[in-house]
Order: sequence, then structure tokens, then C-alpha cells
Amino acid sequence: MVVVGVSSLKGGVGKTTVTLGLASAALARGVPTLVVDLDPQADATTGLDVAARRESTVADVLANPRRGEIAKAVAPSGWAGDQPGVLDVMLGSEQTLDHDYATRPRAMRALATALSKVPWYDLVLLDCPPSLGGLTRTGLVASDRALVVSEPAIFSVAAADRALRAVESLRRSEAPHLQPLGILVNRYRERSPEHRYRLEEMTGLFGPLVLRPPLPDRSAVQQSQGATTPVHRWPGHGGAELAAAFDTHLDRVLRAAPSRAR
Ligand SMILES: Nc1ncnc2c1ncn2[C@@H]1O[C@H](COP(=O)(O)OP(=O)(O)OP(=O)(O)O)[C@@H](O)[C@H]1O
Ligand SMILES: [Mg+2]
Repeated sequence: MVVVGVSSLKGGVGKTTVTLGLASAALARGVPTLVVDLDPQADATTGLDVAARRESTVADVLANPRRGEIAKAVAPSGWAGDQPGVLDVMLGSEQTLDHDYATRPRAMRALATALSKVPWYDLVLLDCPPSLGGLTRTGLVASDRALVVSEPAIFSVAAADRALRAVESLRRSEAPHLQPLGILVNRYRERSPEHRYRLEEMTGLFGPLVLRPPLPDRSAVQQSQGATTPVHRWPGHGGAELAAAFDTHLDRVLRAAPSRAR
């Protein structure tokens, strides 16, 4: 199992889009995957088209990371025809907000404890909220790799830098196994001189941590999300281009051997 925390300290840069895109790539490839929706906005849960109602959500799992509670909070994605174990979702909810103030070591380890009880997934994707509160920290403590999402814009470059420093600081404290996977630049427009400049700037600052290819800005993202459909099944050139980019990034994620035994 490899656990990837998808985070950024900025809102709206594409964390959920990257989580959904990687989940779409994993589904196309038959990799058993769990998406954990750590964001109280629960956008990933919506995007993954979960039909089944559940008594519990990730908030209950964080409070009580036992097998029974996990089973009650996990539902299959409609993308996988509601078939369990293919692409599952640990459901998000507003109640998760209560855990954003978690600071005690035991609370911070709750998700890591829960994931050790579901070893049958090969990939776990954590969609984090847009801040470095208790929820994101809890997510990163459970992660093998941190994937930082950024836009090719000046304020986002600074935010990516802060996010990488936060990963490094967690690695030196609560999460010694955590490593950065890299920075994924989203909504990239090749024709924009500003975007090209910012991508080069980031490459100068962060070197190989800036992952290639950047994700292009395409209306297929919003369209496929609006239709709660995986981007790999979205028709047209834009969908195919995004699917190919997510395939490349999934390869990288799966090559990142888990850095600890569970
Ligand atoms: N590559 C892209 N091309 C076009 N639209 C995009 C792209 N990436 C994201 N978007 C759109 O931008 C909006 C924000 O994206 P998303 O919800 O993934 O960001 P987020 O970082 O998860 O936001 P939040 O911080 O609120 O959780 C969404 O409407 C999404 O459809
Ligand atoms: Mg989001």
C-alpha cells in the first residue's frame, strides 16, 4: 500500500481534481484504491458519485479508528458500478471540522491507525482541506508521500514553498516516514508567458520536485466533474490529454515504494 496525501496550503488550486484524476487512472488500471475525503467540504465524496448511504464518515473513524467504524464509513464509488473494493471512498462530512483542532499525538495518528486495518488497498489517496490544520497534519502523518498541488502564479509559488517546508517539518517530528512526492502544477496554459515563467521559476527553485507534465487547464475537468464521471471516460481531446497526464503521475505514485511497513 502507498498512501499519498494531496495537499496545498491554498484553496481552489486543484487538490480534489488531482485526487479524482489519480483515482480515475487507478480505476482504469485496476489498482484497488481507497480515497479518504478529509475535507469538510466533502467535494471528493460528491465527485466520486457515492450512492450508498452510510451511518458513519471519516469524522467517526478519526474519533474511533476501529475496524467496525471503518467499515461503516467506507462506500464504493459509483465510478466502479458500486462494486466494493475496486474504488472505495471513506466519506467526508462537515463533522470532520471538529478534528481540525487535533493536536494530541494519539489524535494525529488516528488515520494512520485506521489505514493499518485496511491493507487490501494498493493505493490510498487523501484529499486534504486547504490549510495546515489538524486534518491536513493527520493526513500527512498517515502518508508515505506528500503531493503538493500548485498553480503557475506568484502567490502559489510561495504557498508551494510553505507546503514543502511544512512536510519537512513534519518529517522531523510526527511523521519520520513522510517524503515529498513533488509539486504538481495545475491549470497550466502553455501559451501563457506568465505560466511558462512561473513553471520555470518553480523548476529553478525546487528542481526535480516539480513534476512533469503539468496538468493543462481544460474544460473537460469541470465537465467530467459536473457529470460525476471519471476523466478517463470523458470523450474528446481534452479528456484524453488529462487522462494521459494522470497516468504518468499514477506511475510515479506507484513507483514510490512505501517507506514503512504497516
Ligand atoms: N486543470 C483544470 N482545468 C480546468 N478547471 C480546473 C482544473 N483544475 C481544477 N479546475 C477547477 O477549479 C475548481 C477548483 O478545483 P478543486 O476543487 O480541485 O480545487 P481544491 O484545491 O480541491 O479546492 P479546495 O481548496 O476548495 O478544496 C473546480 O471547479 C475545478 O473543476
Ligand atoms: Mg478540494
